[in-house]
Amino acid sequence: MKIIKKIAKLLLLLFIALQFFRPDKNSNQGDHTVYFRTETNPPEDVMAILTQSCFDCHSSNTQYPWYNNIAPVSYWISNHIKHGKEELNFSEWDQYSKNQKDHKLEELIEEVEAAKMPLNEYTWTHEKARLTEEQQKALVEWAKRTRILYGLGELPR
Ligand code: HEC
Repeated sequence: MKIIKKIAKLLLLLFIALQFFRPDKNSNQGDHTVYFRTETNPPEDVMAILTQSCFDCHSSNTQYPWYNNIAPVSYWISNHIKHGKEELNFSEWDQYSKNQKDHKLEELIEEVEAAKMPLNEYTWTHEKARLTEEQQKALVEWAKRTRILYGLGELPR
């Protein structure tokens, strides 16, 4: 029993020590999606969906939940954001070539149709981010339309 108590104490100390370390936050306060919005012109409902369900991991600004203040949860969240942004960052739309933009939209359609995004780990705690069938459809239709416009050379304007 003594040894278990010792281990428990050690773990508690470790947990406390861990709280002094924090991953960098993803919190650009400016209008970080202005380029994306201006170029692709998403209708209001689509923009609302992206904001509520995707931007936390796919843009330069995350609305952090309170439990992000607790390590190691903060590291887990930070990792999701890092990987999400690597794949797709709406705040850096200006840095993608036309082909890359088309490819990102193609992947978006695939992920949304397969209900792989937003990640399940996220919707467990962000109930409202879960996409309804209608929202999925709106997102996919907008992405398909936008791909056609890029293909026709109508975008970028
Ligand atoms: C909790 C964070 C999180 C949220 C919210 C989220 N994603 Fe992701 N997304 C990721 C991560 C992490 C990856 C990279 C790893 C993977 O594919 O699972 C990713 C990858 C992607 C990819 C690239 C997939 C590929 O195969 O290359 C697309 C497209 C995507 N997400 C679209 C979306 C869309 C659209 C939404 C909103 C409807 C969304 N994501 C919401 C974390 C997130």
